[in-house]
Amino acid sequence: MQEEPLLLTILAASPDSYVSGEEISARLGVSRTAVWKHINLLRRQGYEIVGTARRGYRLLSRPDLLYPWEVRRGLKAEVFGREFVYLQETDSTNNVARRLAQEGAPEGTVVAAESQTAGRGRWGRSWFSPRQLGLWFSVVLRPRLAPTSLPWLALMAGAAVARALEETTGLRPGIKWPNDLLLGGRKFCGILLEMEGSPEEISFLVLGIGVNVNQQEHDFPPELLGQATSLRVALGQEVARLPLLRRLLEVLEEEYCWGCRRGWERARSLWLRYEVTLGRMLRLRTGGGEVLGRALDLGEDGALLVQGADGRVHRFYAGEVELCREE
Ligand code: BTN
Repeated sequence: MQEEPLLLTILAASPDSYVSGEEISARLGVSRTAVWKHINLLRRQGYEIVGTARRGYRLLSRPDLLYPWEVRRGLKAEVFGREFVYLQETDSTNNVARRLAQEGAPEGTVVAAESQTAGRGRWGRSWFSPRQLGLWFSVVLRPRLAPTSLPWLALMAGAAVARALEETTGLRPGIKWPNDLLLGGRKFCGILLEMEGSPEEISFLVLGIGVNVNQQEHDFPPELLGQATSLRVALGQEVARLPLLRRLLEVLEEEYCWGCRRGWERARSLWLRYEVTLGRMLRLRTGGGEVLGRALDLGEDGALLVQGADGRVHRFYAGEVELCREE
């Protein structure tokens, strides 16, 4: 069910008072027993409701779950999230979004899941996506741009997510090229941008974003210990996911639309505001091999410029960076 339940709309309209069972039953056109069943269904969905059939019912609180009607409450994005597919569990939201895009899903369609059983990361890695502890979602994009814009789209996404996170939590993430988001040197957010199309034309893109929100240290598997972190670990307190997801969709839409219409200068400035790669010695792995060198700059085409040990400057459009320690 992707629409707000009518019973919830009725209860939410009277936040400070009880709504009688009789009124609810008349408005829903169902028996009093059925009203009671609907109330219990909402409670099972995480809504806190007090009352009895005789006194009536009152909504006390809403859950921090990614129900489409909850995400849309106060969402200021116009396109991103207008179509919103919510899943309790799936293999990968990128897979679902890709299938929907192939069937014609419009730009801005969002697929979000409470957990992923086969969450995918870049370079064939898996992405740990435990139930309700993070934001695991994908957005369908249909830019009228050539695939040469892909590096910019990937950089823009990282910068937009960093901006939204800073605005919502006050934390200032660092971006490791191209778009890994770090706090205290540990990764808490990754972005997987996948394209369908030809070398000449983008048919559509799936922008997959994973944010570790409420994991505690002990929630991470051993292989991620010391490497991964979450907003909760960084802030020392639980973080509401809904406001975060809303702001992410709003800022992503704003930066994406700006870039598509007016070019990538604004995304570049935003990326530079958060980046922690330039000037650093790094090891960069690509499909073609490995380079050890110093990151010099971000080229006007979105390439990372790296000066190798032989003094030559190489341009990279994709790859995996390991920042080296320098004494
Ligand atoms: C990375 O840094 O390696 C990218 C991680 C991307 C994870 C997200 S979670 C939502 C979407 N679905 C996936 O399977 N992957 C992306």
